[in-house]
Amino acid sequence: MKKFYKINLVLASAGLLTVGVAGSALAFHSGGVANCAGCHSMHSPAELGTYLLIGSDTSSTCLGCHENAGDTVPDSYHISTADADMVVGQGPLQRSPGGDFGWLKKDYSWEVDGVAYTEDGDRHGHNIVAIDLGYTEDATNATSPGGSFLAGDLQCNSCHDAHGKYRRLADGTVATSGAPIIGSGSYADSAVPAVGQAVGVYRLLAGNDYTTDSFATAGAFYTGVPAAVAPATYNQSEATNQVRVAYGAQTAGGVNRWGTWCASCHADMHSSYSYTHPVDWPLAEIADLYNAYVSSGIMTGIVDTAFLSLVPFAQNSGAFATLAANASNTDSALTGPGTGDEVMCLSCHRAHASGFSNMLRWNNDSEFMVENGFYTGVDGALAMGRTEAEFQAAYYDRPATDFAAFQRDLCNKCHAQD
Ligand code: HEC
Ligand code: HEC
Ligand code: HEC
Ligand code: HEC
Ligand code: HEC
Ligand code: HEC
Repeated sequence: MKKFYKINLVLASAGLLTVGVAGSALAFHSGGVANCAGCHSMHSPAELGTYLLIGSDTSSTCLGCHENAGDTVPDSYHISTADADMVVGQGPLQRSPGGDFGWLKKDYSWEVDGVAYTEDGDRHGHNIVAIDLGYTEDATNATSPGGSFLAGDLQCNSCHDAHGKYRRLADGTVATSGAPIIGSGSYADSAVPAVGQAVGVYRLLAGNDYTTDSFATAGAFYTGVPAAVAPATYNQSEATNQVRVAYGAQTAGGVNRWGTWCASCHADMHSSYSYTHPVDWPLAEIADLYNAYVSSGIMTGIVDTAFLSLVPFAQNSGAFATLAANASNTDSALTGPGTGDEVMCLSCHRAHASGFSNMLRWNNDSEFMVENGFYTGVDGALAMGRTEAEFQAAYYDRPATDFAAFQRDLCNKCHAQD
């Protein structure tokens, strides 16, 4: 039964993708609500009582397209590596800014001086529940730390509006109606909406007052969607070129920052300045450290080439054109921050999953990220159950030689305590 349905799903999606919407053979959402049949089936849904969805739950429906068994390289909008493609000793395949959910399936265990350590895959990110694809509820966190969102309810549409109603109007404000959506608004080459037109908000994210019907504790999103712009190609190895998403620190309304968006479910991680690390907070004199920092002990960097996608910052702007100028996958825009730019949750965390505990962008659990030129350390004590290939995948394929031979963690990109 399951097998039959899966084949059906693949055919249905493949059909949609090629008949397609005008413009691109790959278009589906086009910044708003996609073809209903891509997610709903009027007469043969996967299960009754699930909004006539074609997967057993929302995330399974999304991953029906956003995961693809048989991928061998990072592929466009795919954000999860299929079980069949997960290889022992290798990282998952996708390198998108949000991160590959496949990291949630990577458990690690190791021993140092006779003491055993374990790191459950659960710790690597947001454990979306997608039963058709083998993703299950977080085994430890019953709710969102610092908040009360139930872990068992975490689905793709907890954060993304499946119907993509939030739109950026010609004047830059975000609304759920008021003008038709003409396409995605996420990319540097997205259309600029004329008066009477709109584009989708960044990544179809959930905005002000968003709720979903299917769970009791729907997040009361109390700020709107923050501005950001990605390059049109955003899922690629960063062995040579980085992918820079230009995150904004505001929208036209002025108040919608990334920290307050995440705080919809993690309110206490964003409490007053003295209790948690500053978030949505100007870098001030730290901007100079960021720009000078190259690697441990080397402070000869310059602002023009300072950007590191492992430690991004929010630009003090919500203007699409300003951000679009910095969204690049070719290293054409590596300018570092000014004093008004800000540290945000996504400076340290990814949004979906990462190769490290607490969904961090770098390994924050060892004294050395690189020891004597190796991610794993020469004697293996720093390997933490991983192969060198897995570390390299988690750093989006950067060779260890991009860093100092004895590289400390990347808090130092901003604080230069090393
Ligand atoms: C990308 C996937 C996707 C597409 C495309 C989609 N839906 Fe949905 N829809 C969902 C999900 C997921 C839910 C369940 C929402 C929840 O959990 O509250 C849903 C719920 C609904 C509901 C019931 C609850 C509500 O939000 O009102 C209606 C009605 C609905 N969809 C209609 C449509 C129509 C009409 C279209 C096409 C214009 C469409 N959907 C396209 C994913 C989708
Ligand atoms: C039928 C296949 C299909 C399904 C089902 C599907 N997607 Fe997509 N999705 C795509 C394709 C193709 C793209 C890239 C083209 C586009 O954005 O239209 C995409 C792009 C996206 C993007 C980036 C869009 C942007 O404008 O930045 C997000 C976010 C996304 N999908 C989320 C979801 C979520 C959440 C669900 C489930 C509720 C879902 N998708 C279901 C095929 C699908
Ligand atoms: C906790 C909130 C959250 C959940 C849950 C979530 N997303 Fe996302 N997603 C985001 C954010 C935030 C971004 C933007 C990341 C960035 O640019 O750094 C994003 C980005 C994306 C993108 C663009 C590619 C990328 O990785 O940047 C796609 C496609 C997408 N999400 C699909 C999905 C699908 C499918 C699911 C469920 C399997 C899902 N998301 C679950 C918050 C979430
Ligand atoms: C819709 C609610 C929701 C939103 C929005 C949300 N989260 Fe979460 N988050 C959760 C839940 C539920 C958990 C606990 C389950 C888990 O860890 O998988 C969690 C766990 C986490 C964890 C711990 C991961 C681990 O396993 O150690 C981090 C870090 C985190 N979130 C950061 C963020 C950041 C950063 C954002 C904004 C980009 C964000 N969250 C937005 C619901 C949310
Ligand atoms: C300066 C880097 C940094 C910033 C900024 C940051 N975090 Fe964290 N976060 C961490 C580190 C490191 C940990 C690991 C635990 C610790 O050190 O407290 C962590 C842990 C977490 C956890 C897991 C806590 C638990 O009890 O399991 C959540 C949830 C989380 N962060 C959410 C957020 C959210 C939401 C924001 C923005 C409002 C944010 N973080 C901003 C570095 C950061
Ligand atoms: C993107 C830049 C950035 C990164 C990365 C970053 N910080 Fe910070 N940090 C800041 C800023 C900005 C401040 C506020 C400084 C100020 O206003 O004096 C700060 C302040 C602090 C403070 C002082 C807090 C207080 O209440 O006075 C500590 C401690 C700190 N950071 C530790 C860390 C650690 C540990 C990490 C890595 C897990 C980290 N930071 C990563 C930017 C950053």
